[in-house]
Amino acid sequence: MRNISICGHQFQLLVTPPDSVGKLSIEGIDIFCGLIHTGDITFDPNAPENALKVLIRKRAFSCNYRDKAFILKMAVKAPSDRFFTLGSEFVAEVVAVGQDVTQLQIGDRVIGNCCYPEPAAPELRPGIPTNSGSKEYQVFHQAQLLKIPPEMPDEVAAAFSIGGQTTYSMIRKLDLKPGANVLVTAAKSNTSLFAINVLKHLDVNIYATSTSLRFEPQLKDLGVNQLIQIDPTVSNWFNFDAIREICQKTGGFDGIIDPFFDLHIGKVIPLLAPNRGKYITCGLYDQYSHITERPFEYHGMLGRDLFAYTMMHNLQIIGNCLGTTEDLQRALRDYATGRLRVVIDSVFTGTQVKEFFERTYHDPDRFGKVIYRYESAL
Ligand SMILES: NC(=O)c1ccc[n+]([C@@H]2O[C@H](COP(=O)([O-])OP(=O)(O)OC[C@H]3O[C@@H](n4cnc5c(N)ncnc54)[C@H](OP(=O)(O)O)[C@@H]3O)[C@@H](O)[C@H]2O)c1
Repeated sequence: MRNISICGHQFQLLVTPPDSVGKLSIEGIDIFCGLIHTGDITFDPNAPENALKVLIRKRAFSCNYRDKAFILKMAVKAPSDRFFTLGSEFVAEVVAVGQDVTQLQIGDRVIGNCCYPEPAAPELRPGIPTNSGSKEYQVFHQAQLLKIPPEMPDEVAAAFSIGGQTTYSMIRKLDLKPGANVLVTAAKSNTSLFAINVLKHLDVNIYATSTSLRFEPQLKDLGVNQLIQIDPTVSNWFNFDAIREICQKTGGFDGIIDPFFDLHIGKVIPLLAPNRGKYITCGLYDQYSHITERPFEYHGMLGRDLFAYTMMHNLQIIGNCLGTTEDLQRALRDYATGRLRVVIDSVFTGTQVKEFFERTYHDPDRFGKVIYRYESAL
């Protein structure tokens, strides 16, 4: 079976065809990555321990911001004669099912169910079912997978679970009222693109910030009223004329969706509408400075000042990790009925592994998810 893997520097020296390895640099660290073949896994559908399990074969997968830390850690800290197969989101087809499986059938196309905080079944751990989502064959409990609608192409399905589950959960928790003004930070991040696509079909006004205006037409096409370019090192965002004017006009934002709290929180809390504004975050930027040893520096209000401001203005700060099974099911339904779009940047295949990682993590022209698809026949 095939695996898209990060390889140790000694392991890559031993690689022979059909395996292939390429080299790239991420955050100044040399990374060896490639297509690695390993033995097939066995799955006995009649075994009692597999009664509720299914064997799936991946068709495509994608990586997320979280995988960058795994890649760098593997390159710097793991034994150099090993490889690590990665991938957070995938689409697969069911190839075998255990005796008591009722929710899935052979041939169904499925994606991972990353439900959190409740596990998909009592005996499972909650959260993302695997950090090795590119393994061509894997066994999961049926509850860790959801069948996808026929309208959804593999490229979209391979980029859906985390973005769908997380953004539907965040927007549900914000409980936005008709006419609400919503700010989405880091507009070009995949999480924010997903959120913008969900917000587009609500009766709300979408504003977004980004480090560049490079994709302004595309973001406006997705439903963003106004894109504001920010400099992440500026602490007081009222210094940006556009933000100050929007806050004066609207009375402040009713909701803020922020995938990187450690870049933004103290800068955006003062932009919320007093006595009703809600800020929600699902993540942090500084996930790998301990590996790269490049220090991360926060600019903005923090600690006592931040909470005093939040308290004095009756604001809400909400943390969000992933979402419920119902959140993902709602996202799938909305996709099937044409209410939800997903932005796909590009699709790579075969030995284009280095190109896949370069586009995912390096390319300033990337807009949307980058997919790796297995060629159908070995
Ligand atoms: N806990 C959960 O449930 C969950 C689920 C999903 C995602 N997340 C988290 O959400 C975050 C985003 O993930 P993702 O996969 O969507 O990320 P991504 O697509 O890799 O985000 C890249 C974007 O981040 C912004 N950015 C990067 N470096 C920056 C800097 N130095 N200063 C300011 N902005 C910068 C840029 O957007 P702009 O140029 O537009 O600003 C860039 O295009 C991560 O923290 C991830 O862990 C968490």
